[in-house]
Amino acid sequence: MTIADKTVLVTGANRGIGQALVADALRRGARRVYAGTRQPLAHPDGRVTPLTLDVTNPAQIQAAAEQVDALDLLINNAGIWLYDDLSDRAMLEEHLAVNFYGTWGVTQAFLPLLTRSKGTIVNNVSLMALAALPLTPAYSASKAAAFSLTQSLRALLAGRGVRVHAVLTGPVDTDMTRSLDIPKASPASVARAIFDGVENGEEDIFPDPMSALLADGWRDGVAKAFERQNAALAQAQPVTA
Ligand SMILES: NC(=O)c1ccc[n+]([C@@H]2O[C@H](COP(=O)([O-])OP(=O)(O)OC[C@H]3O[C@@H](n4cnc5c(N)ncnc54)[C@H](OP(=O)(O)O)[C@@H]3O)[C@@H](O)[C@H]2O)c1
Repeated sequence: MTIADKTVLVTGANRGIGQALVADALRRGARRVYAGTRQPLAHPDGRVTPLTLDVTNPAQIQAAAEQVDALDLLINNAGIWLYDDLSDRAMLEEHLAVNFYGTWGVTQAFLPLLTRSKGTIVNNVSLMALAALPLTPAYSASKAAAFSLTQSLRALLAGRGVRVHAVLTGPVDTDMTRSLDIPKASPASVARAIFDGVENGEEDIFPDPMSALLADGWRDGVAKAFERQNAALAQAQPVTA
């Protein structure tokens, strides 16, 4: 798929990677970009339509879906990242609410439009989905869950012509990682790499120098082969719920 002339929705669009995704979609000639934000947003480009969208709020998700009449590309980008030590159940629930259920809820709400357009879903996951960072175990667990969701959606929606990409993002220089003193990619470079990955049909996108080191090993590895095997099994033996 190419971004030019397409309609794109980005959650968490007001800052960080989300803001860069909006800018890059416009640069690539998107026809309309819906910018999902919790607070009101003003954007100078007339192709941007702000949408009030807290991804933990089912009523806002529903209202947002009713304001959009066509969609080619949904980017589930909104996320939270907090330090914890697994001692507090509330921290797990808070991360799951945004990073997992938020992704699930927004996807379900926009699925009819994406099915109609034979569109694309991009879930901004994290490298921590593959290996937990024990400084942020609740975040890591929520991203592992979001990655598993992405893999299942990919298999379940393939028959409807909807493509589903995971972005296995490494460290990016945003508010989220301000406290981490490590090399980080710029949000603009990551947004560019995400759209390049979508346009090149890469199922799993590794959009920064750290994640790129894992890309070949992941694509040729046992876990990816097992994902394909499981997807084929599900296609061969469909079960009606
Ligand atoms: N930065 C990294 O190193 C890194 C690495 C791997 C993956 N990621 C993932 O990339 C995505 C974007 O991260 P970022 O680095 O750009 O972070 P960021 O600068 O902290 O931005 C987070 C965005 O998510 C929004 N958000 C948070 N909770 C929300 C909710 N309940 N409903 C709707 N929007 C909500 C924020 O909105 P408000 O302004 O209203 O808070 C903000 O727009 C996240 O999913 C993150 O996990 C980031």
